[in-house]
Amino acid sequence: MKKAFVRSYGCQMNAYDAARMADVLGQEGYAATDSVEEADIVVLNTCHIREKAAEKVYSELGRLRVLKGERKLAGQDTRIVVAGCVAQAEGSEILARAPAVDVVVGPQSYHRLPELLARSRETRVVDTEFPVEDKFDHLPARRNKGVSAFLTVQEGCDKFCAFCVVPYTRGAEVSRSVAAVTAEAAKLAEAGVREITLIGQNVNAYHGEGLDGGSAGLADLTRAVAAIPGIGRIRYTTSHPNDMGEDLIRAHAEIPALMPYLHLPVQSGSDRVLQAMNRKHTGEQYRRLIERIRAARPDIALSSDFIVGFPGETEAEFEDTMRLVADIGFQSAFSFKYSPRPGTPAADREDAVPESVKSERLAALQALLDRQRHAYQNAAVGSLTEVLVEKVGRHPGQVAGKTPHLLAVQFEAPASSIGRFVAVRIVEAGANSLFGEAVPRAEAA
Ligand code: 5AD
Ligand code: SF4
Repeated sequence: MKKAFVRSYGCQMNAYDAARMADVLGQEGYAATDSVEEADIVVLNTCHIREKAAEKVYSELGRLRVLKGERKLAGQDTRIVVAGCVAQAEGSEILARAPAVDVVVGPQSYHRLPELLARSRETRVVDTEFPVEDKFDHLPARRNKGVSAFLTVQEGCDKFCAFCVVPYTRGAEVSRSVAAVTAEAAKLAEAGVREITLIGQNVNAYHGEGLDGGSAGLADLTRAVAAIPGIGRIRYTTSHPNDMGEDLIRAHAEIPALMPYLHLPVQSGSDRVLQAMNRKHTGEQYRRLIERIRAARPDIALSSDFIVGFPGETEAEFEDTMRLVADIGFQSAFSFKYSPRPGTPAADREDAVPESVKSERLAALQALLDRQRHAYQNAAVGSLTEVLVEKVGRHPGQVAGKTPHLLAVQFEAPASSIGRFVAVRIVEAGANSLFGEAVPRAEAA
């Protein structure tokens, strides 16, 4: 049997796309493999968000060129596909820079992979169109679903933050219909999926066609997915503060399946920097929004994204970010040094912050965020929680899963508990995971 190796970089939507590409190749008779050496097709699903992510692809392509040559000597053909956001952003430039590449395909065209691969036998192929047809209508059924699954409900972004490539690589905001999302979710549930994470670059701007033909928001969509038998948990990511409407905040109070965890990127705590980033909200507005969300769902765990060293950021402005983090308290967060991206407005600015200053600020911010994360984990010790078991654990006899607040937990239980909700008492906080003990239902109640 022919084999396909698919590697994904970047965000959860890329992970979703990578899985769907594996489905397309599966339908074409390619079995998935983890070993790149034995792959007849290699797909790199790339990320363009920061320079580091984008450059990784070229070093990987250098290695693949050697591998492709070795396989050829052994009489084996290897097709190399570059997909994802670098493909979208750089198109045929990739062919010029990386001679081993056969196909370049953007995030909206990967349903055409079989045809593109066939054409690549004659000539090298680039497809970075935003096609009129909807790729979702052309994708085969999903395989390998597991217990917790991502589901793309919205793609693209109309916000144009000054640092960000997403509006260019993923295009304008498009929402799938409630019917399309619930149909995919129902199939996942039938196959044993218990938790669905609704994903979109700007998921809380979701505005798809509702079941009644009108327009539905993310709160409506969440209600529709929560009504599907078997779906016990719903999450969504990633969101913009300005799209946290009252109905969505209320959904956190009213829909039991909507988990008490929210990833809400703020990027900076300085009003001047926020304005330069074109975020269209202030630090104070973000704080007030968090208050309202906490009023609706007091135990909600918060997560965020931060950029340090945006052009022109002063020490005092960076301190505003530190203060915002200290005041709000995050369960987890991602933080990055600003990386200028070609084609974005901020890339043209001449007041870049020196690399060494960015590094210092990042280290200070990450130290604070780490302290908050550990404090959150330690505070969970002694609590009784519900774990959705996802897989076997690192040690024999153990399984691993997540709490409603998205904390990883390991505990002793048979593998047959995978896919079940288990009451667990947290007994210890490790570096990256909590350890617990299953509690009999009667005791937990
Ligand atoms: N430089 C650094 N970080 C960036 N992000 C997006 N663009 C850039 C950039 N040019 C970060 C933001 C965003 C997350 C997905 O990546 O924090 O929320
Ligand atoms: Fe990276 Fe953004 Fe593309 Fe996701 S959408 S892969 S984060 S550039």
